[in-house]
Amino acid sequence: SAAYIGRFKVWRGDADGGELKDFEVEVNEGEVVLDIIHRLQATQAHDLAVRWNCKAGKCGSCSAEINGQPRLMCMTRMSVFAPDETVTVTPMRAFPVVRDLVTDVSFNYTKAREIPSFVPPPGVGLGEYRMRQEDVGRSQEFRKCIECFLCQNTCHVVRDHEENKAAFAGPRFLMRIAELDMHPLDAAEEAGLDRKSAAQDEHGLGYCNITKCCTEVCPENIKITDNALIPLKERAVDRKYDPLVWLGNRIRRR
Ligand code: SF4
Ligand code: F3S
Ligand code: FES
Repeated sequence: SAAYIGRFKVWRGDADGGELKDFEVEVNEGEVVLDIIHRLQATQAHDLAVRWNCKAGKCGSCSAEINGQPRLMCMTRMSVFAPDETVTVTPMRAFPVVRDLVTDVSFNYTKAREIPSFVPPPGVGLGEYRMRQEDVGRSQEFRKCIECFLCQNTCHVVRDHEENKAAFAGPRFLMRIAELDMHPLDAAEEAGLDRKSAAQDEHGLGYCNITKCCTEVCPENIKITDNALIPLKERAVDRKYDPLVWLGNRIRRR
């Protein structure tokens, strides 16, 4: 199909406020929303702020909301919209705006730092780790994460509830805890770290009521809810309510 002039609404503003502005921008065959934003920047709105790097769905920088849907701008084809449809582009809603389409995602880095890293198993040297393929595969799925933070932006626990942020790490980081807790070589427990209790008590696992909105927006199609959040909930609950585990914990603590 030929090029056409598309109608767009793009949010412009900063931390003090802003509004949707109307633009008409040329759209060519095969283009994605990020191409349009770049053309808009080059031809009409030279100071439009937008964060991007790879234009290949791999750096996780270009997250925004397109017609209200959290998406990567570089992976959203213009062909999914009708030529006469107005396409609205706004910054991610759960994070503070820096300017225009750029948000401050430092909430996520704060949460990342709160999770103790992998604890190497004592007495096993580098190069001597052995894992079943099943365990490797699980970690590999979680590690496809490009840290676009679309899942973090979408989860209703924080999306419109700034007040929940302090107590909730969000799906991406609960998934990180799940990965480490299910890792057969992680020796956190031997080192006195209880990842399951931390998930419940410090990272808000109980806030998640498995609505799966996070999974729906993940551009890497990671099954965040089914493969990370639900198994982590099961493991944390087993620990809390299994009388033998409870007794074991009591005895060890003495
Ligand atoms: Fe993005 Fe998926 Fe990673 Fe969440 S889990 S930050 S949606 S890639
Ligand atoms: Fe939120 Fe995902 Fe749980 S959207 S409620 S973290 S399943
Ligand atoms: Fe890298 Fe879109 S620019 S994911």
